[in-house]
Amino acid sequence: MRWGEDTIQSVKDANDVVEFVSQHLPLKKSGSNFKALCPFHQEKTPSFMVNPTRQIFHCFGCNIGGDVIRFVMLYEGLPFVEAVTKLAGRAGIELPRTGTGEHHDPEEKDQLFRANRIAGGFFTGMLMKDRAGEQARNYLGSRGIHSEACKTFGIGYAPDEWRALAPALMKEGLSLKESVGSGLLVESEGKDPYDRFRNRIMFPIRDLSGRVLGFGGRVLDETLPKYVNTPETVIYHKGDSLFGIDIAAPHIREAEEVLLVEGYLDVIALHQAGIGNVVGVLGTALTQQQARRIRRLTTNCVLLFDADEAGRKAVMRSGEILLGEGFRCRVAPLEPGEDPDSYLQKKGPEDLLAKTAQAMPIISFVLKDAREQFGEEGVDDRLKVLDAIVPYLAKIKDRAVLGLYLNEIGEELRIEQGDLRARLTSVKSRDQRRLKQEQEPELRLHRREELLVHIMVRDPAAVQKVKEQISSEDLGSPELSKIVEKIFSGVTFNSLISSVDDRMKDLVSGWALEDPVEGTGKALDDCLSWFAKRKLQSSIRETKKKLQEAEKKGDEEEFGKLTRKSQELVKLMREQEKTGSQPEDNGPATSPGGEALE
Ligand code: UTP
Ligand code: MN
Repeated sequence: MRWGEDTIQSVKDANDVVEFVSQHLPLKKSGSNFKALCPFHQEKTPSFMVNPTRQIFHCFGCNIGGDVIRFVMLYEGLPFVEAVTKLAGRAGIELPRTGTGEHHDPEEKDQLFRANRIAGGFFTGMLMKDRAGEQARNYLGSRGIHSEACKTFGIGYAPDEWRALAPALMKEGLSLKESVGSGLLVESEGKDPYDRFRNRIMFPIRDLSGRVLGFGGRVLDETLPKYVNTPETVIYHKGDSLFGIDIAAPHIREAEEVLLVEGYLDVIALHQAGIGNVVGVLGTALTQQQARRIRRLTTNCVLLFDADEAGRKAVMRSGEILLGEGFRCRVAPLEPGEDPDSYLQKKGPEDLLAKTAQAMPIISFVLKDAREQFGEEGVDDRLKVLDAIVPYLAKIKDRAVLGLYLNEIGEELRIEQGDLRARLTSVKSRDQRRLKQEQEPELRLHRREELLVHIMVRDPAAVQKVKEQISSEDLGSPELSKIVEKIFSGVTFNSLISSVDDRMKDLVSGWALEDPVEGTGKALDDCLSWFAKRKLQSSIRETKKKLQEAEKKGDEEEFGKLTRKSQELVKLMREQEKTGSQPEDNGPATSPGGEALE
């Protein structure tokens, strides 16, 4: 299905990013860039930049960016292939047919997407087939799901056989490694791999551009487990995807609000009832990654979770995360025992819409919940209520909003404003300490590696110097290591940005567009000496280990050799220590501008 790099490049060359974006957004010249209000999040002052030389865009508000193809994918909600096809058509370029023509080694991720796409087609085919899919069609019918929605969401059926999908994947030329790596097949000892999903209604979980990341499969009755899901794979990470995001995105933008529900069936039921701005968090509470994905579309959120204990807990946790990510968050509690799907069946869409319109702010919800739980008679009870609410208050960023809540809560719990604020401050500093502990040391390490790539992308003149001192294997992050390898091999920036995944596109485009900064040379030297020291440290550690082994074995010659080596390394280390920052003490990583990255 893949086109070669040359083809992609020629499509990009024929579609100037500034010209293309300007057809959709009013661009204003700003230095060497153009800027506009970001179409991917709400803002009042422009942080969306387009750069003609580098042929990229980046929003410094929501940190999203990439080349012209990515812009089309995001702006028009198209999958990669369609975005390229559209741009090619626009420029009058004839594309080689996918599947034939040029070939290049598709990366592992691409193959997994392909496996999922083929499987999705297989499952929808099965749902339509008379014999195999009849039960599944009946079940969906009994749940009130129409064929229109089945098409929209790509619902399918995995037949009740151990090896139905397996041969279909093989026929498409997928290797065993890919089929198992996608989670669609399960390896079994001594036998051929078998289908993970059997006799289940299949819900594809897709990303914003419509690519299938994984699946959830529901039984057709009440047997357990109710759902079997794709395990962690290279492209599917639990807690990072949102069911229905590709379908809901335009509705979310339009409504300037998202409804969050727990399950597949809730999303589909609401969609069928004409409520389109809804996505499913898939079971557990919303995660920070999910919140960040939503933030690109809106920062207004209504939680519409199941009215059971699990749902209540999920509301509490999700609310805290949403506030921390700068959302305005409200809660629409349903009657006990209901979920949005069952509620809709009973009361209809108007009723549900009225409920979401009356949703209460998360702070009020937590306060009400805590008061019901602890009461408010004695001082102790009121303190417990206070302890329950303060962590949420600590997450509110808007000072005016916080001030209003503090007034209200102080009055209700009969606590002085000063005392309330003191509580808040102590919880805030506890949160910060915790965050810092969690971040170290891996994130610090990662930041240092990011900084190195950042400098090279920002200032190509630095590449040669880095190349002389560092090899791509010195980087611990596989993604960054790959990028460094590409930069060293001399690829153009334009093809670099095409070749990295979306998360890296967001980062790299931002690095490339940052204003030129002073002190880049110093930042680079610090960074290089940090890497050099880290390398030395690990050689020292290794040598010491070998030294111990040699001692144990009584190998005198080896022992002597290693002792000398270790002495030399330590000496080198001392010399290094006279310059720059220390890897072990993890001094703050700085950006090329010199300010701390955190
Ligand atoms: P629910 O149990 O509420 O299921 O779980 P549901 O989707 O609403 O289905 P019905 O209405 O009971 O038929 C909510 C979500 O939690 C995840 C699924 O994503 C589900 O949609 N889940 C639930 C699992 O992943 N595994 C399970 O065993 C149960
Ligand atoms: Mn449910």
